[in-house]
Amino acid sequence: MSKNTVRSHPVIALDGPAGAGKSTVAMRVAQALGYVLVDTGALYRAVGVLAQRRRVRTDDVARVEQITMQAVESHALKMVARAGATPIVWIDGEPQTDALRTPEASHAASIVSGYPGVRAALLALQRSFGSDGGVVLEGRDIGTVVFPDAEIKFFITASDTERAHRRHQELLQKDPSSQLSQVLAAVRERDSRDASRDIAPMKPAEDAVVLDTSAMSVEEVVAVVVQAAIGAQTV
Ligand code: DC
Repeated sequence: MSKNTVRSHPVIALDGPAGAGKSTVAMRVAQALGYVLVDTGALYRAVGVLAQRRRVRTDDVARVEQITMQAVESHALKMVARAGATPIVWIDGEPQTDALRTPEASHAASIVSGYPGVRAALLALQRSFGSDGGVVLEGRDIGTVVFPDAEIKFFITASDTERAHRRHQELLQKDPSSQLSQVLAAVRERDSRDASRDIAPMKPAEDAVVLDTSAMSVEEVVAVVVQAAIGAQTV
């Protein structure tokens, strides 16, 4: 879609670092507006899981790129997204949920997302969800690369200590041995890898609104995004 085409419902790009609350905000915004939700991080996580299933090491760039392209083309890797619901990623005909959320999957996703062939393979897939608008995409490069013409762009962030604290609380529910210091180290490592990679580094788009949510409630953040989206609707 060209820059001049008017969508009656906006594309909402929510970018930002891990643990800033993007996923929760994206879900609530999609529910409030009845928009389709696309969690692009889940696609990168799925590539990490795919590599594990295919017994390909995540540092083998060429093989990871090859299996990703093949899996996207053959629909062995796909995402099913619906209005106001968590999108489901499928690998080899099986829906993936918990396997994508482990610390290992987070780590693998952060590595494979730096590979140009992986990003290229996932780009068309991400764009296929959004071109008609009425969609919320959350990720790192939605406003800069995937939908540079998105009508609404927010870069949602928070201090690294606050983000580590939030992620730690989430992990504790599944793993009582979670250590805050380790979670903080992992958050910092991932931030620096995501922000410093050559291709599509995590950064706010020039026309994005940067929201520091360190001292904001989820409800406050959702209200800001929903208001902006309603203002951009033309029907
Ligand atoms: O948002 P998340 O934690 O599920 O993302 C997992 C990894 O995928 C993260 O380290 C960065 C990468 N990612 C990316 O490079 N581009 C995106 N649009 C989304 C995620």
